[in-house]
Amino acid sequence: MALKNDLLIRALKRQDTERTPVWVMRQAGRYLPEYRKVRKQAGDFMTMAQNPEMVCEVTLQPLRRFPLDAVIIFSDILTIPDAMGLGLYFVTGEGPKFKRPIQNLQDVESLPVLNVNTDLKYVMDGIALTSKTLNEEVPLLGFCGSPWTLLTYMVEGGSSKTFSKAKTFLLNQTKAAHLLLQKITDASIDYLNAQIASGANAVQIFDSWGGSLSPEMYQTFSLDYMKQIVAGVKSKHPDTPVIMFSKGVQHNLTKMADCDADCLGVDWTTDLSLARELTQGKVALQGNLDPCILFADDDVIRAEVKKVLTSFGDGNGHIFNLGHGMQPDMKPEKLAVLVDAVRTYSTKAT
Ligand code: CP3
Repeated sequence: MALKNDLLIRALKRQDTERTPVWVMRQAGRYLPEYRKVRKQAGDFMTMAQNPEMVCEVTLQPLRRFPLDAVIIFSDILTIPDAMGLGLYFVTGEGPKFKRPIQNLQDVESLPVLNVNTDLKYVMDGIALTSKTLNEEVPLLGFCGSPWTLLTYMVEGGSSKTFSKAKTFLLNQTKAAHLLLQKITDASIDYLNAQIASGANAVQIFDSWGGSLSPEMYQTFSLDYMKQIVAGVKSKHPDTPVIMFSKGVQHNLTKMADCDADCLGVDWTTDLSLARELTQGKVALQGNLDPCILFADDDVIRAEVKKVLTSFGDGNGHIFNLGHGMQPDMKPEKLAVLVDAVRTYSTKAT
């Protein structure tokens, strides 16, 4: 069967579209009362993420409210390190934590090689159920974290502002760092391929902390591994689009455009017009409204949406998104204004 709305897939392949497709990162989340209800029922985040019915329900919730052009499977980038035995848990107000963070080469060497179809079966079951329920209405996105972004959590033991431990690990224990990045990369290739086999129509790699590295370190410790992931997915699923999203990496967009990804996610600190110049038409671009615009008045939101569309300009290959995710204190009605504005202002005259 074919997708009823394939705007996202066409835009990712830089083909013609009647208008700009739109979805937003963290569109399923705490800003929605119906999400909070399921979350309360589950008790904690991982119980919810491991329950395919709940995953399906919260993945589809935003689509019931807004005419979005894609949904993203409800899960987390930290499922891989959790499956490797690091013991993921969440502390309210402090974010994710690991019981057994990585400290040295021996810790890295003893990490198990994952069988994603058994160790992360709950993710594949959630995708299969969601794909079936979605009934080809819009594309379903799968995702993983970038090896560098996962390394930061695995070495820091949780979130960090400075990444001191993670960067010291790269600098002082370089061999262990590369082995860890390679192990995450291998698992991520299998993980994304299994997600596609279970029903994901496109996949995104989240490199949330790529922007914390210098250009040289970014290339060595983040980009080279993401490039391997793209190649690993393309070798099995050449037609499935891959989106690569690094935050805060304007200086690297040119290099990123040569990684064989179909699309680059751009945050709001880089104008799409500049991103287009830097990437030379080699990739589609996704983004890039500053999420904080959603706290503004409706007219301001509409004007800012228009600016993003104008900044991309004419031509194929734009997917509208926020430059990062929805925040828990945002009002759902504001996202409705955004989605409506994108649909209205980007529709091409026929
Ligand atoms: O985008 C979506 O709607 C899909 C689901 C999704 C979640 N996390 C759900 C989630 C995706 C794609 C992610 C990715 C993710 N997780 C990233 C990369 C993207 C980014 O935001 O930079 C990162 C860095 C994580 C790690 C993580 N997981 C953090 C920092 C948190 C928030 C912790 C907190 O208490 O604020 C999580 C938990 C999480 N993942 C939540 C959601 C909706 C909130 C948890 C809850 O409901 O209690």
